[in-house]
Amino acid sequence: MAEASFYNDKVVRQFAVMTVVWGIVGMAVGVLIAAQLYWPALNFDLPWLSFGRLRPLHTNAVIFAFGGCALFATSLHVVQRTCHVRLLSDGLASFVFWGWQLVILSAAISLPLGYTQGKEYAELEWPIDIVIAVVWVAYAVLFFGTIMKRRVKHIYVANWFFGAFIIAVALLHIVNSIAIPVGAMKSYSVYGGAVDAMVQWWYGHNAVGFFLTAGFLGMMYYYIPKQAGRPVYSYRLSVVHFWALIAVYMWAGPHHLHYTALPDWAQSLGMVFSLVLLAPSWGGAINGILTLSGVWHKLRTDPILKFLIVSLSFYMMSTFEGPMMSIKTVNSLSHYTDWTIGHVHSGALGWVAMVSIGSIYMLLPRVLGLKQMYSTPWIDAHFWVHTIGVVFYIASMWIAGVMQGLMWRATNADGTLTYSFVESLNVTYPYYLVRLGGGVLVLAGMVLMAVNVWKTYQLAKSPVPQPVLPPDASQARG
Ligand code: HEM
Ligand code: HEM
Repeated sequence: MAEASFYNDKVVRQFAVMTVVWGIVGMAVGVLIAAQLYWPALNFDLPWLSFGRLRPLHTNAVIFAFGGCALFATSLHVVQRTCHVRLLSDGLASFVFWGWQLVILSAAISLPLGYTQGKEYAELEWPIDIVIAVVWVAYAVLFFGTIMKRRVKHIYVANWFFGAFIIAVALLHIVNSIAIPVGAMKSYSVYGGAVDAMVQWWYGHNAVGFFLTAGFLGMMYYYIPKQAGRPVYSYRLSVVHFWALIAVYMWAGPHHLHYTALPDWAQSLGMVFSLVLLAPSWGGAINGILTLSGVWHKLRTDPILKFLIVSLSFYMMSTFEGPMMSIKTVNSLSHYTDWTIGHVHSGALGWVAMVSIGSIYMLLPRVLGLKQMYSTPWIDAHFWVHTIGVVFYIASMWIAGVMQGLMWRATNADGTLTYSFVESLNVTYPYYLVRLGGGVLVLAGMVLMAVNVWKTYQLAKSPVPQPVLPPDASQARG
């Protein structure tokens, strides 16, 4: 079959473009809710513009639409290039693309209307959950089916990370979403009380570990060596990194439930595993960064490498901060405060968004048959606007968070609270404004990226199909 001698890059292009589109939508909603926290009147007294409904819209849009499309685009690109074979089936690839867009649209409609299961990052109601499960199984068949028909013996390490992400997310989604439907858009979880909380945060934490980390490490292991023109610093370390991460992540969830009705031993277990998690996280990140050994100078001139390498610095920052926050005594200060929000966004905007943006800038021209994006100086401008925006965002939230924690626990000599809640809110306002400014910068960078993508498409006119490499060609190791 002639088709089989070319890669299926159509689905990669579709997901890459939607990454940018959903990135702008999700971050625009983030900017709106950040503005609402400063000017509450911005909800215009409309229920579907209220903070409580837009917040889950933001988290779903950035994690599952923006992050999800980036993961689909890169995993389907990497698996073909490293296995030297076309995707298992074009029909299945298009089903996965359109199915995922349907899930996103259903979320974008049902969340503002107020339909929710009330579980964080698993808000979508049962009919949408079923569509997610079907699309995910199709994705798994497509990905693993392509690996099965690979024409090289070795399975490159990036695919291991993508594979683990696919299997873990299927498991997490199905177990956490089991519910009894009582109406077209209403259901009750089969779990109750402390068990419900435990299952939810086993899901929630592993959504971070597998949705927001493992797949993105897959990107790191392919796009950094490719862009740097160097093999991975230590292939052996990458394998140790993989198994260590897989073994440890699953146990750390209870750090979200410190000082709750969850048994104390389970909380301590979660804390210990979170502390251990520092080692594989840093080992992996250092492996990515040292891939630049001998070509550090490229960082001066290549903004795509800047995105990829700085993303790893943020990854190291958030995976240092996370274990610290999981220590019970530290958590007693950080929990409920904006410190958590700062931590989330140093991972989300610093790590997840930057590695995705860098990878999309790297792959898009290639799947259009071009050598580079329309404008490299614009990529550089994007890098700086984004980085400055992230620093504004996370620094303001750290300061606000620690301040809130200290104010809430301050007591007078007679045991009464020194500050009322409203006093702590009042002093937080300036930091909300700084966070909003940071968010606007990040969003502006995404808009610049969209224009660059548009112009690159115009350059490409009609994409040139890329021939599948013969089995003996060296592709996988950069
Ligand atoms: C322009 C960029 C962004 C802005 C302005 C923004 C703003 C916000 C705001 C205001 C909140 C609510 C905070 C609160 O409840 O106090 C939030 C929550 C959240 N955002 Fe973002 N965000 C942005 C980008 C992202 C990205 C790219 C991701 C993920 C890839 C992300 C993931 C999250 C998550 C997971 C939460 C919930 C945190 C929690 O419950 O602790 N955000 N964001
Ligand atoms: C070694 C790695 C990490 C550990 C041990 C860790 C630990 C923690 C801890 C202790 C909390 C606060 C829980 C609470 O007080 O409620 C937290 C919250 C959170 N972390 Fe991390 N973290 C790590 C890495 C990351 C990364 C890389 C990301 C993002 C890509 C991330 C995303 C989040 C999110 C979204 C939350 C908020 C959950 C919620 O309450 O809604 N974490 N993490």
